[in-house]
Amino acid sequence: MCQLYFRTETSRPILHYQTDLALPQTDRFAIIDDDDTLTKLDKRLQAVANRIRASTHADVGSDHGYLLRWLLSRRQIRRGIAIENKQQPFQHSQSVLAGYDVDVRLADGLHGLFDGEADSLSICGMGGRSIVRILSDLPDRVPQALVLQPNRDVDLVRSWGLRSGYHLIDECIADQNWSHQILQFRRATSTTDPAYKGLDQEAALIFGPLLLKRFEPTLALRLQDERAYLNQFDKLGPKSSKRLAAINRIL
Ligand SMILES: C[S@@+](CC[C@H](N)C(=O)[O-])C[C@H]1O[C@@H](n2cnc3c(N)ncnc32)[C@H](O)[C@@H]1O
Repeated sequence: MCQLYFRTETSRPILHYQTDLALPQTDRFAIIDDDDTLTKLDKRLQAVANRIRASTHADVGSDHGYLLRWLLSRRQIRRGIAIENKQQPFQHSQSVLAGYDVDVRLADGLHGLFDGEADSLSICGMGGRSIVRILSDLPDRVPQALVLQPNRDVDLVRSWGLRSGYHLIDECIADQNWSHQILQFRRATSTTDPAYKGLDQEAALIFGPLLLKRFEPTLALRLQDERAYLNQFDKLGPKSSKRLAAINRIL
């Protein structure tokens, strides 16, 4: 039994049909050599998975489906919802997640989720701008627990958390550089996020308030490296100038 999801033009809700027809498989996804991903995730997705425990977890931009399969196979979640807005990754998710308790939906971001349906959500491997767009599009559908992994513009995601009442409860860097920052948020009742208390807010938005508070030796090295790199240039764009000024205030 397959499940098909369609969007209407006007309000963009999903309509849910069930059919006995097998969905067409493309050659690209007919053979998937992903046995390894059952026993091992890469560092980035592993760091994401370690932060997820939920009854129903939704993953927007599920693509290969490895994250949800890992969470379901280890019973870290009871039910999964995979959301993809492109046909091929949607079919890839369907194929990898077949046989698990998971709905795979073709939809744009949270338009693929009903109100209150999931208690936890991940969005990984996209730019911060796209992540914020997805979260801001339908704020009432954003679950209470979030794990977000923006590939760039991480400060935009932290700023979203600050203005939307989601507190940062954990963050980490899953690789050698800044590109794999994993942010864990929880919906809060108080407006001020204690993570930023006592910190230079602009620097904290860029480099992470909890990372700055921990200030591990690798963080100091990363900041020194970035300062040395940026100092080579006579002229910097606004974003790099802001980063360099923030690094100079931190170090
Ligand atoms: C680079 S992949 C990341 C896949 C996986 N989340 C990971 O981190 O390994 C990003 C995926 O997000 C999907 N995507 C981008 N924007 C989306 C949106 N608005 N709604 C649903 N999926 C989206 C893309 O089709 C793509 O498959």
